[in-house]
Amino acid sequence: MTGEKTAGPNNNSVRGYEVIDTIKSQLENLCPGVVSCADIVAVAARDSVVALGGPSWNVLVGRRDSTTASLNAANSNIPAPTLSLSGLISAFSNKGFTAKEMVALSGSHTIGQARCTTFRTRIYNGTLIDSTFATSVQANCPSTGGDNNLSPLDTTSPTSFDNAYFKNLQSRKGLLLSDQQLFSGGSTDSQVNAYSSNSATFTTDFANAMVKMGNLSPLTGTNGQIRKNCRKTN
Ligand code: HEM
Ligand SMILES: *[C@@H]1O[C@H](CO)[C@@H](O)[C@H](O)[C@H]1NC(C)=O
Ligand SMILES: *[C@@H]1O[C@H](CO)[C@@H](O)[C@H](O)[C@H]1NC(C)=O
Repeated sequence: MTGEKTAGPNNNSVRGYEVIDTIKSQLENLCPGVVSCADIVAVAARDSVVALGGPSWNVLVGRRDSTTASLNAANSNIPAPTLSLSGLISAFSNKGFTAKEMVALSGSHTIGQARCTTFRTRIYNGTLIDSTFATSVQANCPSTGGDNNLSPLDTTSPTSFDNAYFKNLQSRKGLLLSDQQLFSGGSTDSQVNAYSSNSATFTTDFANAMVKMGNLSPLTGTNGQIRKNCRKTN
């Protein structure tokens, strides 16, 4: 079986697998065969947001782990940072999310980093970008080479889970083209303005959308398995 780690959006991108391994090995020592890797990821996502000052939510648990994988599905379902607003709306609609939920979930880009290769075209040749911001990001993202150099998705407060991401969009300082699409004169501008001026509505909508995302057709009951090692099936 080919896993999904080398799918285009994941390859050289997703990291932190060793953190999940550490949690899993501690759980297997204390209580073997009970807590799935899928539940570990869902709880770790919540705890990471809380640790950086964001909202908390109750994670429903009882997910089981997959015995299959689909490189093709990962390639076709994960939205690209080059998507237009209508492309973003339809990618999330395909999973049952409204445009408003898509904007709320995108607010997770208030933390974390992206590789130069994902935003190079925007910072050199993009429109709807603050020129001072573009120049400053170019310093660590050359026009050729340095593909894996990282820049924060939220230039203002990269390690705080706050609503600065939406304020950045209002001043054309979204790092990814897909970020700036949310505030580009289209139908989601008003939602960006709302989250920018009211952090509490952002955090409430974000938490609710995270619960919904975590409940997208999980394996339960006797489907799937509880992996012993999150890197492979039993
Ligand atoms: C709206 C469509 C989305 C697009 C096009 C998108 C795209 C991206 C890209 C290109 C990166 C940088 C990856 C790299 O350079 O290796 C990234 C990072 C990140 N994304 Fe998204 N994303 C989207 C939605 C989301 C959602 C819904 C979440 C979670 C709720 C999320 C959470 C994150 C986080 C936390 C990072 C930083 C990871 C790190 O620093 O290791 N993104 N995203
Ligand atoms: C994943 O990235 C590595 C390192 O850059 C590369 O050698 C490999 O060809 C990539 N795999 C796929 C499937 O793109
Ligand atoms: C920017 O556009 C110019 C002219 O089309 C092109 O030569 C150059 O390769 C582009 N640079 C990037 C980083 O996209």
